[in-house]
Amino acid sequence: PPLDTLLNLDEIEAAATTQISKKCWAYYFSASDDLHTKALNNLAYRNILLRPRVFVDVTTASTSTTLLGHPVSTPLYVSPAAMARLAHPDGEAGIARGISRFGAMQLVSHNASMSPEQIVADAAPGQLFGWQLYVQTNRAKSEAMLARIARMPDRYKCVVLTLDAPVPSKREDDERAGIEARLVMESARAAEEQQQQQEEKKKEGEKPDSNAGVGKQLFFGTAADLTWETTLPWLRRHTDLPIVLKGIQTHEDAYLAARYARRHPGTVRAIILSNHGGRSLDTSPPAVHTLLEIRKYCPEVFDAVEVWVDGGIRRGTDIVKALCLGAKAVGVGRAALWGLGAGGWKGVDRTFEILHAEIQTCMKMMGAKDLSELGPRFINTRMVERD
Ligand code: FNR
Repeated sequence: PPLDTLLNLDEIEAAATTQISKKCWAYYFSASDDLHTKALNNLAYRNILLRPRVFVDVTTASTSTTLLGHPVSTPLYVSPAAMARLAHPDGEAGIARGISRFGAMQLVSHNASMSPEQIVADAAPGQLFGWQLYVQTNRAKSEAMLARIARMPDRYKCVVLTLDAPVPSKREDDERAGIEARLVMESARAAEEQQQQQEEKKKEGEKPDSNAGVGKQLFFGTAADLTWETTLPWLRRHTDLPIVLKGIQTHEDAYLAARYARRHPGTVRAIILSNHGGRSLDTSPPAVHTLLEIRKYCPEVFDAVEVWVDGGIRRGTDIVKALCLGAKAVGVGRAALWGLGAGGWKGVDRTFEILHAEIQTCMKMMGAKDLSELGPRFINTRMVERD
């Protein structure tokens, strides 16, 4: 269907589903175990109500803000998600092109299907990126990647360290699709490089399981021994960029991140409350619950680090609710991929157009002219805090 006939993110997902391969669908759609957390991610927003105010001149509403000190035109960003070229040859560079009108930051996955250099090569001037790291058991490989990222300081403004996936999860849709590593790797432009890594791993005596789903294939080589004490000092030695910790799911860890940030200025600058789109630990909490916990037990976290959230965003109202509860920015993972699947870079553009318009409508309906006005006074959380 023509993109302008698609009116919301569900319709874009449905359109993408008819156009991408079954294997791609299984990888993108899948989440761990019974998909409870994936469903709850969105349901949690539906159970938070808005408290609109009237008699406010809302002729215009601005969505401008800053992320890590950089001006951006929208609080919406692209979460790191692997293998965009499975959906469309435009790949991660197509996502960059698709969001270029909206001034959003793009976080590039460690397992992107294009190299970090290729992704930024044709990006619009001023387009900002972050690079996401899965620390490898062979640290030298991670260090080499960090060195490559450091060579593009105009583009890559942060390193996002993902912490919520220390081991692969059970994504049954993905495993059922049973993609062979060879096929996945061939579909990516980074094929050669990936191939080399596989060869090296073989030489090192490690054996990838060629019958696992894409998730498990990509996970191969990822370290499970990260700690506050060892990993952050190591990372600091290998990057000067602000560090963003992704996958914080409790107020305790948010507190520890904020404490670390205060004790080591210029290291951890933001945390992302995320459960990996329900793809890691099933029945782990939606980001918005963690936001509420932080508000209750350690609100000082919001002063020490920027708090970003992702997971389950389908509507502008979801985004505004997260911002009202203290989030500085809100990410979409699958939505960008579905946009790509529905129509390449133009599908991403359409996805962001819809979300941007919905954010503005919501702000105006609520009587908020500026993001800085958003706060808990606009929110009723009785339905999620019943007990
Ligand atoms: C992801 N996500 C992810 N996160 C990460 O840190 N590194 C990665 O490589 C990936 N890869 C990835 C692939 C696919 C197909 C998906 C759907 C997700 C998680 C992602 O960054 C984000 O946390 C979630 O996608 C947010 O949830 P929604 O927006 O998909 O509901």
